[in-house]
Amino acid sequence: MTKKKPLVVVTRKLPEAIETRMMELFDARLNIDDAIMTKQELIDAVKEADVLVPTVTDKIDAAVLAHAGPNLRLIANFGTGVDHVDLQTARSRGITVTNTPDVLTEDTADMTMALILSVSRRLAEGERLIRKGDWAGWGPTLMLGHRIWGKRLGIVGMGRIGRALARRAKGFGLSVHYHNRRRVHSDIEDELDATYWESLDQMLAHVDVVSVNCPHTPATYHLLSARRLKLMQPHAILVNTARGEIVDEPALTRMLSDGEIAGAGLDVFEHEPAVNPKLLELQNAVLLPHMGSATIEGRVDMGEKVLINIKTFVDGHTPPDRVIEGLL
Ligand code: 8YV
Repeated sequence: MTKKKPLVVVTRKLPEAIETRMMELFDARLNIDDAIMTKQELIDAVKEADVLVPTVTDKIDAAVLAHAGPNLRLIANFGTGVDHVDLQTARSRGITVTNTPDVLTEDTADMTMALILSVSRRLAEGERLIRKGDWAGWGPTLMLGHRIWGKRLGIVGMGRIGRALARRAKGFGLSVHYHNRRRVHSDIEDELDATYWESLDQMLAHVDVVSVNCPHTPATYHLLSARRLKLMQPHAILVNTARGEIVDEPALTRMLSDGEIAGAGLDVFEHEPAVNPKLLELQNAVLLPHMGSATIEGRVDMGEKVLINIKTFVDGHTPPDRVIEGLL
């Protein structure tokens, strides 16, 4: 007798190669039209599925997990951040959670660097000027931005993406400063020429560019609070490719508008896909729709990780990317 394949419910459309393999390996229920599932649809999914494959747009909270059927043993998230999954409830119900680290590190670091450059050198503003037909020709004082060579970058969260950003930043002549819960190994500090700041407050007051690269957890919610943002220098800029919830978005918006911070590059927002309407009016904010890992290669690699995590798990082994709450 052939063993029944596990029912895997995938909440969003994934790259075709991944969906094809998903169907070969499992009894896969795909979301071909890519409509975001409602809470009720998620509840129905967890009641039946052996494995759920959600992503950042699905809130897998305690209310959803309360309906989890006895078969649901694995949540194989498509994405590294798992702040949309209630990990404690999952753990208490004996559900393993996996994610997709490493494969999006370089792409997200690229996007972070791109935002640093875009804000400092006013790329989006310049583009808008041309498209509006307002460019009257070159001028010695037209569209002046700020040099980044020789400036100080402060990285909040020196994990995989923070380190990949530091490597790039060195090439652009930025000096690297960082704050992290734990100081990284001295070999890494040496490789990156990175200066550790035990005090986030002090680092914020000292640097020209702040980049948010830590995960969103209960401990990092509004880590960049209004009080902390006020510590930044008025010429400094902030970029965020991590999670919107880490920064107090209304406070940041107010400060950008009042010139208390010079600029911001935001790939993520507190209430995605809603964006504070006041942010939309600001020339000194570069806004992107959560594109940090949006490369074809990255998304296929992420899908591969999901497949490997599920396959390993259903074969009775520990999946390679098991999320351990305390290690986030
Ligand atoms: C993803 C991300 O695009 O992996 C993450 O945590 O933020 C993004 O790169 C998205 O969140 C997929 O879940």
